Amino acid sequence: MSRRSIGIIMNGVTGRMGYRQHLIRSILAIREQGGFELPDGTRLWPEPLLVGRDEQRVRAIADRHGIDRWTTSLPEALAEPDMQVYFDAQLTHVREKALLAAIDAGKHVYTEKPVADSLDGALRLARAARDAGITHGVVQDKLFLPGLLKLRRLIEGDFFGRILSVRLEFGYWVFEGDWQPAQRPSWNYRTADGGGIVLDMFPHWRYLLEHLIAPVESIYSHAVTNIPRRWDEQGSEYAATADDSAFAILELAGGVTAQVSASWATRVNREELLELHVDGVRGSAVAGLRNCRIQERAMTPRPVWNPDVPSPHRFLEQWAEVPDNTEFDNGFKAEWEMFLRAAYLGEPFPYDLVDGAKGVQLAQIALESGRTGRRLPVPALEV
Ligand SMILES: NC(=O)c1ccc[n+]([C@@H]2O[C@H](COP(=O)([O-])OP(=O)(O)OC[C@H]3O[C@@H](n4cnc5c(N)ncnc54)[C@H](O)[C@@H]3O)[C@@H](O)[C@H]2O)c1
Repeated sequence: MSRRSIGIIMNGVTGRMGYRQHLIRSILAIREQGGFELPDGTRLWPEPLLVGRDEQRVRAIADRHGIDRWTTSLPEALAEPDMQVYFDAQLTHVREKALLAAIDAGKHVYTEKPVADSLDGALRLARAARDAGITHGVVQDKLFLPGLLKLRRLIEGDFFGRILSVRLEFGYWVFEGDWQPAQRPSWNYRTADGGGIVLDMFPHWRYLLEHLIAPVESIYSHAVTNIPRRWDEQGSEYAATADDSAFAILELAGGVTAQVSASWATRVNREELLELHVDGVRGSAVAGLRNCRIQERAMTPRPVWNPDVPSPHRFLEQWAEVPDNTEFDNGFKAEWEMFLRAAYLGEPFPYDLVDGAKGVQLAQIALESGRTGRRLPVPALEV
């Protein structure tokens, strides 16, 4: 069996996502398992080259994990001929320039979402990648999570019959940073740095709804900043200018209604940080990150409205757990393997920069809807 290397320039690995999910849980995990197999039996072996702004930090990561190639110069990395892929997990508003440089250097590109901080920027990237004829992809990790893979299984097995509506609930309390440190970076709460829950999370909602249920046709959204002052990584107080909660109603193709509640200023009273409740004529499901519970038509109770007496129903106990029936890999790693396979074979990747641009488009229209107080159409995207 032959082994083939694929070189990956990894930019942003000193960050939360770049380090934990992409370097450790994906690329290093693939190396620990000896690479992964292509359809012809070849094993593909990722060779990372780390890029970071801070020499000490990027060198420390390389040393800690026995990676011998790293640099603080992106142009230097892009000039390496054995590096076929460029990956970006930098903070959102510096991404476009780096991705354009990588496309220009003829690299395949894979990137965190949102792909850019404006739709114009996202479209520029999609066009440049199309014209360069490279393989391009966007992280859409939630599609690869066990709970949502189980939901996909239900949909593909026609569990629901006609789908009526979807309720997507996301959120948890992100500490302000004074009394207890915040568990997310401070740039997330500053508009000027590409922050905001709409720009951060609505790209996820777009691909989840579109790839699991149906394309989004319109949106009415309301975004607010619930916590206007926060404390950053250095303990300094700052004005939180970006939205930290957003509530939206979306119309999907085929008459499905979706409602979204997303907040970093809410306390969790559900089983998981993200839950999608899907109601269909023949059954309903609640899918989280790991689990998925269902209630079929024949198992539906018959509650009667009477607040004068305690309810005889224990509603939450009336749902059945969907079995795993398989072993689920880390979602980021699963998508990495899929992308590297496509890049190595020079094939298109389904979750590409056009799909990524649709995520930015939805976020942009959601913000516009909030500003104007109007329900707005989400037109088909012209690249
Ligand atoms: N797929 C997901 O579920 C998911 C989750 C969280 C974040 N993200 C995305 O991943 C990206 C990184 O988010 P994060 O939470 O890891 O952020 P982070 O602040 O932890 O990391 C940011 C990275 O960008 C680098 N960087 C480059 N230029 C910078 C600059 N001018 N200022 C500050 N940092 C700069 C930093 O060195 C660091 O490596 C964002 O685009 C975010 O939207 C995706």
